[in-house]
Amino acid sequence: MYTDKVMDHFMNPRNVGEIEGASGVGTVGNAKCGDIMRIYLDIDENQVVRDAKFKTFGCGAAIATSSMATELIIGKTVQEALELTNKAVMDALGGLPPVKVHCSLLAEQAVHAALWDYAQKNNLVIEGLEPPVEDIDELEHEEDEE
Ligand code: FES
Repeated sequence: MYTDKVMDHFMNPRNVGEIEGASGVGTVGNAKCGDIMRIYLDIDENQVVRDAKFKTFGCGAAIATSSMATELIIGKTVQEALELTNKAVMDALGGLPPVKVHCSLLAEQAVHAALWDYAQKNNLVIEGLEPPVEDIDELEHEEDEE
């Protein structure tokens, strides 16, 4: 049911932990499954993500997607990090079962929330960045309505 890559990132997650004095921290959850993900970003003066770490209280797919998401944004600019979609994270993992797609949305949104926190702290406007939601379940319902 899960690809080898998903299993690898679940069993050996990369970048677990927290960053003290992080440039931005974002926490999102999904009220429906109760899972919570927190992402820490260390961003340098050129707006490049120097480091990213995560703590996820959630299912295996949430752990694998947070691990992969942090891997994908390290070394990227904040704009590139913002453009990382949950689909890109899933593709990098070789796919997720349909019932687990929402777990990858948690990773995408936790990155956005951390970028938002960084922008707020530094009085910056990151083009295309929307205020974060605390519960991604709301987002999924918005998508249903479209
Ligand atoms: Fe909720 Fe995976 S089941 S994040």
